[in-house]
Amino acid sequence: MWDYTDKVLELFYNPKNQGTIEETDQPGVKLATGEVGSIACGDALRLHLKVEVESDKILDARFQTFGCTSAIASSSALTEMVKGLTLDQALKISNQEIADYLGGLPEAKMHCSVMGQEALEAAIYNYRGIALPSHEDDDEGTLICSCFGVSESKIRRVIVENNLTDAEQVTNYVKAGGGCGSCLANIDDIIRDVKEKAGVAAQNHHSPGLPQSQPPSAKPLTNVQRIALIQKVLDEEVRPVLIADGGDVELYDVEGDKVKVLLQGACGACSSSTATLKIAIEARLQDRVSKNLVVEAVQP
Ligand code: FES
Repeated sequence: MWDYTDKVLELFYNPKNQGTIEETDQPGVKLATGEVGSIACGDALRLHLKVEVESDKILDARFQTFGCTSAIASSSALTEMVKGLTLDQALKISNQEIADYLGGLPEAKMHCSVMGQEALEAAIYNYRGIALPSHEDDDEGTLICSCFGVSESKIRRVIVENNLTDAEQVTNYVKAGGGCGSCLANIDDIIRDVKEKAGVAAQNHHSPGLPQSQPPSAKPLTNVQRIALIQKVLDEEVRPVLIADGGDVELYDVEGDKVKVLLQGACGACSSSTATLKIAIEARLQDRVSKNLVVEAVQP
């Protein structure tokens, strides 16, 4: 018997926002749908969003889930969390925040929160007509777990975003390794590689004189400290995530509140690089350095 929180049980027995959203001819409103998982693998989630076009606000959210107690509770929690947010705000929701909303999930059920976060991303990317990032692409020879259809890029992403350290945790978060087990050695190799790359990225620009990451409300920084902090946040918090997805970023220049960066590898070629900039880099720098920063990509 799983040790579920009261919130998980409440949303399982009385799920909020279950169902679909009726097509509407209401002017200025559009629907978006995101679908992840498969019934064959045990869990599937279809998320429906009603979006006010002018403000980019989510007016309503509904879900249809095939899965266990925690899959239903996670889906219901997600729909409650996104209502009233803009699409950019919603994209910042992490799988950990979905789990936190529920008062926690058993680690073996964390894949349900990952499924929710991925369905949200899929719905918003569909709405914006952006091709899904490569972690959704299992058709390019990067399939690691054939039992559950999980790609290398998806495994790398979940390791970085949740700071996972062993294959059992990866199984808990994305199911990979939970079938025949023949992919477990590959998952170990990926974990080792992600950690090594993250270590290199953090060391490349290490300097004992750099200021620590701090909230925007801290004492104003000098220009030199500000640029150093931007570099530090890019190296320690942004680059490991991009490297895990086959990309990278380099700080090119800082002019006032404009941060110019060079996107490299998969990020530079990716059709969703604008979203990558806004979400992964600008939001992180605004959070850690200054809410006025604007990130702009420059060509090498
Ligand atoms: S290939 Fe991953 S569990 Fe079988």
